[in-house]
Amino acid sequence: MDRVTVFDTTLRDGEQAAGGSLNIQEKLGIARQLEKLGVDIIEAGFPASSPGDSEAVSLITQEVRKPVICALARAHPDDIDRAWEAVEKAEHPRIHVFLSASDVHLVYQLKKSRDEILQMSHEMVARAKRYTDDVEFSPMDASRAEPAYIYQILEAVITAGATTVNIPDTVGYATPSEFGNFIEGIIRNVPNIGRAVVSVHCHNDLGLAVANSLEAVRRGARQVECTINGIGERAGNASLEEIVMAITTRSDFFNLTTNIDTTQIYKTSRLVSELTGFSIQPNKAIVGANAFRHESGIHQDGVIKMPITYEIIDPRTVGIPASSLVLGKLSGRHAFKERLAELGYSLNEADFNRVFRAFKELAEKKKEVADRDIESLVAEEQRTISEVYHLDRIQVSCGDRGIPTASVVLIDTDSQALADAALGAGPVDAAFKAIDKIVKVSNTLTEFSIKSITEGIDAIGEVLVRIESENITYTGRGADTDIIVASAKAYVNALNRLLTAKKVTS
Ligand code: KIV
Ligand code: ZN
Repeated sequence: MDRVTVFDTTLRDGEQAAGGSLNIQEKLGIARQLEKLGVDIIEAGFPASSPGDSEAVSLITQEVRKPVICALARAHPDDIDRAWEAVEKAEHPRIHVFLSASDVHLVYQLKKSRDEILQMSHEMVARAKRYTDDVEFSPMDASRAEPAYIYQILEAVITAGATTVNIPDTVGYATPSEFGNFIEGIIRNVPNIGRAVVSVHCHNDLGLAVANSLEAVRRGARQVECTINGIGERAGNASLEEIVMAITTRSDFFNLTTNIDTTQIYKTSRLVSELTGFSIQPNKAIVGANAFRHESGIHQDGVIKMPITYEIIDPRTVGIPASSLVLGKLSGRHAFKERLAELGYSLNEADFNRVFRAFKELAEKKKEVADRDIESLVAEEQRTISEVYHLDRIQVSCGDRGIPTASVVLIDTDSQALADAALGAGPVDAAFKAIDKIVKVSNTLTEFSIKSITEGIDAIGEVLVRIESENITYTGRGADTDIIVASAKAYVNALNRLLTAKKVTS
């Protein structure tokens, strides 16, 4: 069977999603997990877009050695030089050059002729080729361009040294058979196409990104560009987990394989959701909370008798733990460690001790501690690493009489305890105002949401907040059985991200 290479762009196109910005350590964490997942190529960022992006790409090249590490560049000499500076230390570096190719972009945005674009594409690929052998080129908005012109561009960039030619459906306009015909046309009509891998990059504006990508591989494309949970610009990109599981589950139809370790899918999906703050819709294929839940009596009856009656994928194949054991306050270190390992976590001694302590505190309040609770505890502990301010304690008084009041104590990086209090319209407002009096960084709260991690009145509540400062959005999360505490943790988490980002920029 032929193998399709998986090019993950969660850290580049995925991070372009509105409100989804990640800090350097978070990007590194995701890159490490993508390596475990077995992706062939990680597009780690767009170095010319910001110093932070450049720093993140170069950090990833040093820490993640197995996959190809790719940096994006516009067809400008400076961008290409910056991309190379960021990836040069990689074990396997790649530069990805892109330039618009549709008339609508040429006329209204770039104000350049087709000939000029053709020449720039050739020259900039040749420039990248002087740095590395592994060069990818994308004619942006290819699906809305004239096919004959795309054939011409592809021939030119392959002559200049491109080893991968990527066909983007930039605005998610294509339909499967049309896009498949286009890919087949490229393979038939570009004379030197045999010297390059044909790749596809589909957006999801019409909900067709996965269908278009699958049709393209059926017609000869051998690289797919995709993101975890399908995150990305506007409606997102093709979802990695859906493409991979379609190819795996229907290998009888596609007759193709990938290098992906599917048992890492669930963990990767949770990590990306946690760090970007984008929740996964319950009915999302493969990784949604309901993807393997059977509600109707007829379905449940079938699954009990024989899972394949209504389950086309064994949940364990994608790494969803088949947990029967529920932990409680009598569970010891050993059982907890085993559960963590089953969930895919390997923590160092200090981190383990902190999470175990949090587990014991939770088990005192909650009779049964489920896997989702444990995942939330680990995430909460990881959030408190390298904080600028740590929420030490919070107290509120509220109700339908009197004025909601909050007092908070934060600990700063010099271990100083800083206390203040405030009144507010409600307890969360009062808590945030008290925190503001200490942190003193102006921002606007743009989103506040709360959800319970599991069923039951004693469940952990998880709060997500987004704040905006100087047109940049920062996401914070916090979890606790007390929703006011969870809210304060989430707000402090968002402020910590804002302060850290400002420190990096300055
Ligand atoms: O959607 C797009 O066209 C892109 C290119 C940079 C490949 O993201
Ligand atoms: Zn894109």
